[in-house]
Amino acid sequence: MTATGVNSWEKDGSRVILAGENFNVEIEAFSDKIINIYASRGEEKSFSQAVVIKPKPVSLKVKEGEECLSVTTGTVKLKVNKENFSFTLSAEPFLLEGKELVVEENIKSCSLRIREDEHFYGLGERTGFLDKRGKRYTMWNADCYRSYVEGADLMYQSYPFYIGVSPTGSYGLYFDNTFKSFFDLGKTHPDMVTFGAEKGPLNFFLIYGPTIKEVVEGYTEITGRMELPPLWALGYQQSRYSYYPQERVLEVAREFRKRDIPCDVIYLDIHYMDSFKVFTFDQERFPDPKGMIKELKEMGFKVVTIVDPGVKVEGDYWVFKEGLAKNYFVTDEDGLVFTGKVWPGRTAFPDFSREEVRAWWAELHREFLEIGIAGIWNDMNEPTLVDTSLPEPPISTLPPNLVHKGDSRPMRHEEFHNLYALNMALATRKALLKFKPQERPFILTRSGFSGIQRYAAIWTGDNRSYWEHLKMSIPMLCNIGLSGEPFCGADIGGFAEDTTEELLIRWTQVGVFYPFCRNHTNLDTIDQEPWAFGKKAEDICREFIKLRYTLLPYIYNLFYRAWQKGTPVFRPLVFEYEKDENCHNISDEFLLGDSLLVAPVCEPGQAKRMVYLPVGEWIDWWSGELFKGGKYYVADAPLERIPLYVKAGAILPLTEPQNYVGEKPWEVKFLLFPGGVRGEYVYYEDDGASLDYQKGIYNLYRLTYERSGAMIKFTWAPIYKGFAGGQKVFKLVFKGGQGSEKVWVNGQEVEVSLAGKDREIFLKA
Ligand code: GLC
Repeated sequence: MTATGVNSWEKDGSRVILAGENFNVEIEAFSDKIINIYASRGEEKSFSQAVVIKPKPVSLKVKEGEECLSVTTGTVKLKVNKENFSFTLSAEPFLLEGKELVVEENIKSCSLRIREDEHFYGLGERTGFLDKRGKRYTMWNADCYRSYVEGADLMYQSYPFYIGVSPTGSYGLYFDNTFKSFFDLGKTHPDMVTFGAEKGPLNFFLIYGPTIKEVVEGYTEITGRMELPPLWALGYQQSRYSYYPQERVLEVAREFRKRDIPCDVIYLDIHYMDSFKVFTFDQERFPDPKGMIKELKEMGFKVVTIVDPGVKVEGDYWVFKEGLAKNYFVTDEDGLVFTGKVWPGRTAFPDFSREEVRAWWAELHREFLEIGIAGIWNDMNEPTLVDTSLPEPPISTLPPNLVHKGDSRPMRHEEFHNLYALNMALATRKALLKFKPQERPFILTRSGFSGIQRYAAIWTGDNRSYWEHLKMSIPMLCNIGLSGEPFCGADIGGFAEDTTEELLIRWTQVGVFYPFCRNHTNLDTIDQEPWAFGKKAEDICREFIKLRYTLLPYIYNLFYRAWQKGTPVFRPLVFEYEKDENCHNISDEFLLGDSLLVAPVCEPGQAKRMVYLPVGEWIDWWSGELFKGGKYYVADAPLERIPLYVKAGAILPLTEPQNYVGEKPWEVKFLLFPGGVRGEYVYYEDDGASLDYQKGIYNLYRLTYERSGAMIKFTWAPIYKGFAGGQKVFKLVFKGGQGSEKVWVNGQEVEVSLAGKDREIFLKA
């Protein structure tokens, strides 16, 4: 609790500045629901690169009472206790009562009271279960290869953002500080959240919901949203450390086609390079990368190559020579280039804080992109140092005092560290936009910070082929999605150590629902391609990978929603059912969008599992059986199945599976599942590849239905038509088990043809 109080205050448009004895607090409304709070000793306010929100004009009202000053936006009210500078946040109709917020006197941290019934989500990539109450985390990007366990404090990425959820409503808090910071969510004091940092400003945003959905919308208004990915990047992807030589890469690709297993992408890990030197090819292993890429393209494969930030220190290596001559590498305070060990031995690190360096880095991609490499995978970009000449190599990062020259002002590494990967992604994006201006960029990154969703997909780094890591991937991806990054996945099969037949099957069954769907494994592990364990595993993996391709129109539409509102693709149940107590810490089920519920098997030998279905009705995907929600069931889960449910009455756009995206045009069918009285679906379509959608070249259709007695009335209409190349005729399929006899579309009765138990009609675009 602070001793000093508010001495005076002044209002300036949508800002109120409160002056205290030891510090000032500025309250600025960015919208009706988004409030920025900045405590300082008079230093000018600025935001980190994560913040892209533009303030909307908000009329702030300030009322002064005897003890309190109340600042109101219309939706949110902040009551400031003049005695001690504590804030109480409230909003109608839900009262976030008890949300007293105290700025500590040293203005390095802030505390908020936790409600008894409060749960915490967000914080990005974190191990452990879904609800983060009682945990403490440090925000400092680090290679967590050895500490990838439940209690891990540091992870590859940092998102200083959490969501507090209680029955009275949800709010979010984003702490805009890029130094090493912490969040203590009731670990040290069970009834207090404390967040802060040793250095950098105490500058944060409060985001009022009142639903989780609206909090995520607000947070992604602050830190930005992802653009639409190229459709091929939603296909199944295959990787290993490393496929080489080039003949092996082609062989893997041919296996996929021969075995009728869909796949869109093959990755080249570090062994494609000459002595791990970035932007080179090993001439012996890959004598003709261009020819290889062409051959892969003919089979429908894209190639994504790894590019690490470390540049090998070697006198006549052109990238090193250029970077050195132009003074593009990170230096110490005396201006000497810093070097540390990574895969190639001694390396120097580009100073991505500068536009000039990012432009240079982008240019270095020219040849790669010109020979047809489709996307870039940025790794080791925490950045990580690892001396592989030692038996148990210590893993570390750059020292805090190194200098990044910056575009507007220099920063020490301690301030830029968490932004290093974000800026590397920015440079990579520049490359893709420069050399493939007609194509949507695809970047995969291991490290990142809030805002990384604007540039890259992320994967959760070096997990292990452990059942517990399969299980952990679910709450981890749920919380990453809630932290504004919809395009995320974990290495299917597990990265480190040897997978097993059963684990690969179970992991593939979950992995096909990951927004980013890639199987990847470590050096020296046994093979884990879908066919690596024989026919049984191969058949099951094939079926599930095909299921992903069937679901692609639905999945792509979820990405459209992510682009529009930041809505996660992979969602915890609590996202849709936040009032349902049972959903608050479900870590072993998830929703893909709002209509599919997946209950994977995460333990060996399990052929049944408990499934919680939230309120409403749910249809078993495999049997079509209808289940009442709000209950637990014991579901069958033989090796070839995982429990999968569709929300009753949902409309899902699906298509026939194909070998790869774009092999044939989609023939999208809308499946209407039984059970709903009324429903709606908005369908988005575009060319799936170019940036034209940003100029409005896309289509949006709305389908609605209403059932009464034996009649079902449909409406089908374009909401927006900007794309001439869209599908011309769609099928609408009434899944079996629906009683309606008469179908009306846009006010006209239509003939319903019989196709098995399902009935279908045609809808013209
Ligand atoms: C890191 C990455 C892993 C990659 C390996 C070699 O461990 O996380 O995915 O395979 O480096 O590049």
